[in-house]
This record gives sequence, C-alpha cells and structure tokens, in this order.
Amino acid sequence: MSFSILGTGKAVPDYILTNDELATIVETNDEWIRTRTGIEERRICKDETITELCVKAAKEALDDAGITAEQLDLIICSTMRGENLTPSQGCMIQKEIGAKCPAFDLNAACSGFIYALDVADGYFVRKKVKYVLVVSMDNLSNITNWKDRSTCVLFGDGGAAAVLGEGDDLLAIHLTAAGNDEVLRIPHGENSSPFYEHKPEPALLQMMGNDVYKFAVTAMPEGIRTVVEEAGLQQSDVNWVIPHQANIRIINTAAAKLDIPRERFFCNINHYGNTSSGSVPIALHEASQAGLLKKGDIIALCAFGGGLTTGSCIIRWCK
Ligand code: ACO
Repeated sequence: MSFSILGTGKAVPDYILTNDELATIVETNDEWIRTRTGIEERRICKDETITELCVKAAKEALDDAGITAEQLDLIICSTMRGENLTPSQGCMIQKEIGAKCPAFDLNAACSGFIYALDVADGYFVRKKVKYVLVVSMDNLSNITNWKDRSTCVLFGDGGAAAVLGEGDDLLAIHLTAAGNDEVLRIPHGENSSPFYEHKPEPALLQMMGNDVYKFAVTAMPEGIRTVVEEAGLQQSDVNWVIPHQANIRIINTAAAKLDIPRERFFCNINHYGNTSSGSVPIALHEASQAGLLKKGDIIALCAFGGGLTTGSCIIRWCK
C-alpha cells in the first residue's frame, strides 16, 4: 500500500514578465529566448510572498481532494528557500491552513516534488499517515542574477501542491544525486560570524548552462526508462510524461531518445519558464485541469536539477 494523488492545486504570482520586457533589462531578445528555450513569459513575485503562494496552492489541492486541513497527517514543502530559515516553510503552511500535523522542508532543487513523493511513500508504507500534503514552491527571482542574460531569462516563480491519500497508484520511483557544486550553485550569501574566515559570495544563481543541458538530455530518458521498467511496463504504456520544464529543447531531445511519442509530453514552459521544484506539479495540475488525464492513465513524472539531482516516477491517475 502506498498512495494515490487525490487532488492538486497551483499558485503563481500575478505579474507576467514577457521576453520583450526582459530585453529592456538585459541584452537579449524574444527570438533568442523563444528559439533556444521555448519560454515566452514567466511569473515574478511582486507583492506575493512565498507563504501566500504555498497557502493558495495547498487550499486548492485540499478542495480538489475533498479533505480538510485538520485531516492531514504530514506536510512536506519542497523549496530551495522558504520565507525563513526557521520556521520551515512547511510549518508556515501548517500554521496558515490550520493543520495540526508535523511539517518540514526538503531541498532537492528542481527534483524536489519527486523527492517529496518518495519521502511521503515511506510514511504510507509504514502506515504512519492517511493524508499527506506536498507543496513544491520556489521564487527564484530573488536569487536570480538579473545582470546575467544566460540565466535570468530561464527562470520564473510559482509552484503547486498535491494531496496524497492511501492507495496503490505509485508504481515506481527512482531518485539520483551526483554531488556537484561546479555546474550549478546558489550560495547562501551571508555569514554573520565575526570569526569565519571565508568571504561570503552573493546569493545569486551560477550555472554552466551547457553542462546542465548535457546532463539533462541523458538523465531524463534514463530516469524514465528506469521507472517504466521497475513498474513492469513498456514505454508504449505511458499515456503522459510530465517533464521538468527547463528548456523545450531538453524535452524534445529526451523524447527523441524514448519510444514515447512527443505529443504525450505535456509542456507549459512557454508561460512559466523554469520554476524549479514547482515545475512538475504545476504541469501535472494544468494537465489535470485541462481534462487531459483520464482515470487509469499511466503518467511518468521526471525532473532534474541542482545537486545534481534527478527524480522520476510512474503514477496511475486515479481521479
Ligand atoms: N540572449 C541572447 N543571447 C544569449 C543569451 C540571451 N539571453 N544567453 C546567451 N546568449 C548568447 C551567448 O552569449 C552565446 O553567444 P556567442 O556564441 O557569441 O558566445 C550564444 O547565445 C549561445 O550561447 P549558449 O550558452 O551556447 O546557448 P545554448 O543554446 O546552449 O543555450 C541555455 C543556453 C539556454 C542556458 C541552455 O544551455 C540550457 O537550457 N541549459 C540547461 C539549463 C537548465 O536546464 N537548468 C536547470 C537546472 S536549474 C535548477 O535546478 C535551479
């Protein structure tokens, strides 16, 4: 016995930053961003806090699942940077929605949602929980280097939530990590100790985009092949792939390496860019809301990101 996904919810900031507006901030243009990444616009936090977005997504997922916050047994928030170091973002969500259960954060960068599903699976297997809320939310705009055109065009803010209940619809899940602070890194940015001898670096995202690209176009198909096999399925059985939305060319290249038609890869990168751990659950929620996911469908979720981490899983859609 593991879990089924009972409900999903999404929250993105209102402000839409278009490629054309970005071109007024750094030397870039709509054509370059569109053709190299597939991104047309992204959402950026202005007056919304990450807690407000988490709470909005959580409440929508609870409504969709038809359960109340009091019924939750656990809250896991995957994020790289919550509102505070402590309380955790999970505890902030717990407080705001009126839940009474344990809550904590988990950081696996863009793979965070799938890492959180795997952690939740352990609680279900140990029969410690009946309902778990996973919220995956990042606001990368506050650690983006807005002077670096090779990275600032890629990211956006937002995330989504899922309510998990007892069930048997997680068919396989596979995580990887390959410790690497060279190709992708976001330093903490401060150290208040008068004794510490290293100079803190600014809290700005640094990325060797081409190296991450090469990693992703191998890791994504490998992850999907692994979980399809672990689930005892064929690639042709997969109805939908919900991939991490980092670059449309990464998705196209990964699709070409698999025996799954490209039309079965759900993409919404044009509207949001890369929202880190929010990316996969936002896409899952939008595919569900659009009526694309049918009861019994086999869905592959697949993400990669800082760490370097990857997460892949197969779920059967039960709604
Ligand atoms: N606008 C215009 N020109 C640009 C821009 C821009 N925004 N950015 C770079 N260029 C230029 C470069 O300077 C270069 O010019 P040159 O040839 O004169 O030197 C040219 O465009 C090509 O640059 P490349 O870096 O080779 O561009 P590429 O096609 O490889 O795309 C990109 C770069 C989009 C970053 C790609 O490598 C990529 O998507 N990498 C993966 C990133 C990723 O997925 N990260 C996910 C993890 S994030 C996380 O976990 C938080």
